[in-house]
Amino acid sequence: MPMVVGRGRRWSDLIIWWVGVVLQLLFLLSNAQNLQGREGLSEDKIQADLPSAGVQLLEQDKQIVMCNGIVSITLTVPGGAVTNITYKDSGNLLETKDTKEYNRGLEGTSYKIIVQNENQTEISFTRTWKVGSSDAPLNVDKRFVMLRNSPGFYSYAVLERLKGWPAFNIEEGRIVFKLQENKFHYMAMSDDRQRFMPMPKDRLTGETLDYKEAVLLTNPTNPEFKGEVDDKYLYSCDNKDNQVHGWVSSDPPVGFWIITPSNEFRTGGPIKQDLTSHVGPYVLAMFISRHYAGDDIDLKFQTEEYWKKVFGPVFIYLNFDATAKSHPSVLWNDAKQRMQKEVASWPYRFPFSKDYVKSNQRGAVSGQLLVDDWFINKQPVPGASAFVGLAPLGVAGSWQLESKGYQFWTKTDQNGKFLIQDVIPGTYSLFAWIPGTLGDYKYAYDITISQGTVVEARNMIFKAPREGETLWEIGIPDRSAAEFFIPNPSPKFKIHKYRVEVEKFRQYGLWTRYEDLYPQEDLIFKVGISNYKKDWFFAHVTRKATNDEYVPTTWKILFDLKNINKGANYTLQLALASANRAELQVRFNDPKTLPHFTTGPIGKDNTLARHGIHGVYHFYSIGIAGSWLATGMNTIFLTQASSRGLFREVMYDYIRFEGPI
Ligand SMILES: *[C@@H]1O[C@H](CO)[C@@H](O)[C@H](O)[C@H]1NC(C)=O
Ligand SMILES: *[C@@H]1O[C@H](CO)[C@@H](O)[C@H](O)[C@H]1NC(C)=O
Ligand SMILES: *[C@@H]1O[C@H](CO)[C@@H](O)[C@H](O)[C@H]1NC(C)=O
Repeated sequence: MPMVVGRGRRWSDLIIWWVGVVLQLLFLLSNAQNLQGREGLSEDKIQADLPSAGVQLLEQDKQIVMCNGIVSITLTVPGGAVTNITYKDSGNLLETKDTKEYNRGLEGTSYKIIVQNENQTEISFTRTWKVGSSDAPLNVDKRFVMLRNSPGFYSYAVLERLKGWPAFNIEEGRIVFKLQENKFHYMAMSDDRQRFMPMPKDRLTGETLDYKEAVLLTNPTNPEFKGEVDDKYLYSCDNKDNQVHGWVSSDPPVGFWIITPSNEFRTGGPIKQDLTSHVGPYVLAMFISRHYAGDDIDLKFQTEEYWKKVFGPVFIYLNFDATAKSHPSVLWNDAKQRMQKEVASWPYRFPFSKDYVKSNQRGAVSGQLLVDDWFINKQPVPGASAFVGLAPLGVAGSWQLESKGYQFWTKTDQNGKFLIQDVIPGTYSLFAWIPGTLGDYKYAYDITISQGTVVEARNMIFKAPREGETLWEIGIPDRSAAEFFIPNPSPKFKIHKYRVEVEKFRQYGLWTRYEDLYPQEDLIFKVGISNYKKDWFFAHVTRKATNDEYVPTTWKILFDLKNINKGANYTLQLALASANRAELQVRFNDPKTLPHFTTGPIGKDNTLARHGIHGVYHFYSIGIAGSWLATGMNTIFLTQASSRGLFREVMYDYIRFEGPI
């Protein structure tokens, strides 16, 4: 069922809308024919399955049903596509109509019941690649697990490629369910981001905006949504916050949730962002994607490369509450509690695959992170609330584009101390960054984790980037542009009123507001007078010229320097929170000269179009010869020079001008 589409050639007969190589773990009801196999299925048998009866398995010709008296799921054999998920007597919660346009990804070619007893069922659907086959060069082992008295089921997959198999890339990997569209209308992904959603047909009657995912609702089923924009990227969030999301059905009042109890198998680290749930109603477990990162994060395999990785398990959790008819968020609150329980039981004990590493086979690392920035403190001080993580070997910051291995992250306490538990044995780099401190940290030594041991990382001192004293700074070094000016959306669009107003940057079309605010002249920031919260636009965008062409924009930072030391060097510390097909050029006091510094072409994170406030982090320490500066007023010209298109941008994280060295 993983589905792979090649660069120019496809490895399957299934088409989806991404270009490049796509791998999907896709579970969808396909069409009514798949249900025919259930004719011999005894309804009585299922009805009789009270919780105490334990887990039952009914094998038939073309399908297999797992049930535990609470939940029942039907899988095709040997493909392993899920065709029916039922909570008690809810009826099938998966969409059954018009599913031709969807596909299930590559399916298994054989299956095996790994275990079946009153307490647990686990089924494995496999597909083995044969040399010369036109399928994706991967071995697939897709698993489904049901436990006694458990209101849901687990799914995970083991993917493997052998040395010598054809080179190929994986761009995307996920599990997706399409729920009954006439039942599931309320979506929840956080305490604040939950709402009744538009219907799929509202997208068809609406007006497509700057890209096909964004649709203006002109004639929605619920007239309250008229004027809103629907776009699946409005419901993205950071991996670290993406632990539970899903939908609530109005009748019966049943919730359908995906719980992802660990980030270890996701790509790109804790602040990589991805999709959650969106109009369809779709609910996704994203494992691999380019979203907010670009194709640099694709898994690129060379012929000689061996690779194996376990994705999941994730838990498909179902719940019910009669009061959810009028208060759907009660089911969200319950799902959140269940998520905490699942997180607490990670690593799970139940998976039977030997590739899933159990808790007692794992190891740990502990340490204390100190940060050394002489301008702020004479002595190194604890790096409090820092993100610390193990990821495959690489240079500082490489974790954000890392996709093949596992990553294990935590946050330090007030003393900079941390313990990362349940790490899969292997050799890793130890990385960190501290919100409020510029730059990326990498520990000097590789960390080898082995079963049952705790490695102590000693002498973890992050020497923060610093050349001279701070003369001025703009923003907060936290890898995000959220502190800058974020405009209201164009009055053309209606803003959905969430429970509270959250994350102002998650609105369609904010990019057009730059030209409304700066119709003639580009942004000018005067150090000491301007306020970055009001006077620094959150994204450095292009400007629309005639004929659908876009032109570069140049922002100016004006600042006063007394007693310039022409013989010394100064430093501009420049951190970007996002870059999309951009080139940022920096000039000092002469807008016409060749750039004193250029980033060169950078970034494909597409953060602006996807309503994000951070994508891939870039950091530059730019040396400035004192001779480029003047006593008195100086100007730094920042030109976003790559302008062929609408969504070419950089978002600044932080800028600091440092005094003579
Ligand atoms: C789905 O499964 C449930 C429980 O096994 C069964 O009662 C129901 O008839 C099934 N629905 C369809 C459409 O097959
Ligand atoms: C199922 O779990 C119960 C309670 O832990 C245990 O007594 C029983 O032996 C288990 N059954 C099987 C088949 O493992
Ligand atoms: C300034 O930087 C240049 C180029 O890196 C270097 O050659 C020079 O020695 C530096 N001057 C001082 C005073 O540090």
